[in-house]
Parts: sequence; C-alpha cells; structure tokens
Amino acid sequence: MTTKWNANLYDQKHDFVSKFGENLVDLLAPQKHEHILDVGCGTGDLANEIALAGAVVLGIDASNDMINSAQQKFPTLTFDTQDAATMDYSHQFDAVFSNAALHWMKQQEKVIDNIYRALKQHGRFVAEMGGQGNIASIVGALRQSMEELQLPYEEQYFPWYFPAAEEYQSMLENVGFTVQMITLYERPTPLQGDDGLRNWLVMFSNNILQQLNDDEKELVYAKCEELLQPTYYQDKQWIADYWRLRFVATKC
Ligand code: BEZ
Repeated sequence: MTTKWNANLYDQKHDFVSKFGENLVDLLAPQKHEHILDVGCGTGDLANEIALAGAVVLGIDASNDMINSAQQKFPTLTFDTQDAATMDYSHQFDAVFSNAALHWMKQQEKVIDNIYRALKQHGRFVAEMGGQGNIASIVGALRQSMEELQLPYEEQYFPWYFPAAEEYQSMLENVGFTVQMITLYERPTPLQGDDGLRNWLVMFSNNILQQLNDDEKELVYAKCEELLQPTYYQDKQWIADYWRLRFVATKC
C-alpha cells in the first residue's frame, strides 16, 4: 500500500505536526556533533531544529515528494528517500528520532529492528507516534459515512498502526531496547480554518477512500463534517482527537 503525499498541502495546512513535535526535540536533547537519524522527516522542519543544536542530521522519508521539499527548504542538510522497513544502517547514530511517522509503517518489527541496528551502543530512540485510540472519532465517522452512503469500507485499506503502550514497549524490548519511559496521552489537535476537517480528510484519507470517485469522496467529506460537527467543531475551530504514544528507549 503506498501513500501519495502532497508536500505543499502538508506544509500549508498541517504545519502543526512539526510545531507539536518541537518539544519532542527538547526530549531528544541533541548535542553538538552527535549523529542523529530522523525517521519519517517529512518536509524537514524538525531535522532542521536538531541541526540548529549542532548535531549532524540525516533525514529520511519514504516519500520522494517530502524529501524533495525538505531538501529545497534546507539545502545544507542531508536528506534521503528511504523506507525505514528496508533501510540498512549499522551502528552509525547516537540517536534516532521520529515524530508522527511511525504509525504509517505497517512493518513495525522490521522498522524497530532497523532502528536498533542503526544505533551505536547506548544510543537512544526518542519518538512520538499515534497511539491507541488515535483519531478514533474521525475513523468512526468515515466508516459510518460510507455505510450510510452505501459505499464499501474495507479494513484492508486502513493504513495506520496505533499501538497501546504495553504492546509497543514489548516490541521495543523484544529487539533489545531498554524502555526509559513510554506514555500514551490525549492531545486534542486544532485543525486550521473552517475547512480544517475537510483538509485533513483530503490529505490523509486517500487510502481508505481509494475505491471512490471524486463525487463520492465529496459526499463522504460532507457527511463526516455533519457527523463530527456537534462534538469536534467549537467556536469556529475543528479539533482532531489525537492520542500520542511518546517514548525514550536505549540500546543496551
Ligand atoms: C497522526 O499524526 O496521528 C495522524 C496524522 C494523519 C493521519 C493519521 C494520523
């Protein structure tokens, strides 16, 4: 399953992704001259934050469009189009960082394995991703909308992995990580503008709606707005029901 990313729309309407990630960079605490891998770097804003602390960053993303945009924005930084499930780094990095990307990766065991191998001994893995319960209302609204419109909702097109803390901790420990901290927390996330929900759906629901034509998609967007408005549109502001899984783990 491939996800087509629109780097422009991502930067214009979804810059909250990297804004929220800024305090994750504090948790990473990048040091001068450290080598840090940013997995799923998107359009590069947090890789740039890390580089401003004096670290040497490599930003990777499976989307060419994202990497081209990151490289244009930050020409002095190093980016590469790489899939974390197939990347092949060995004992190279003092830290691996990832914000809002891991939940897109279906081959989690391979990704965690590759991250573990990429780290030097005692290296740290600092990350945040969507966790259990993430966007449950939006997914519920998509499913209900499609049912009501008699359009096919297919489980196989669900593109995300939103684990519970205990489940992810076990996966990290299974490859050899020691988990320093892991926490699942609710982070209601404002979506920009009156069309915030619609823009979110246009950007992120491609996989789920892949069998629909443009008119059918429009019907689904409108139905989702109708279903979610009473709870998730307050004072002219759409809110998405994000739940974040945040953790720090080290390679022993
Ligand atoms: C997230 O960051 O939680 C997310 C973003 C887009 C689609 C699904 C989840």
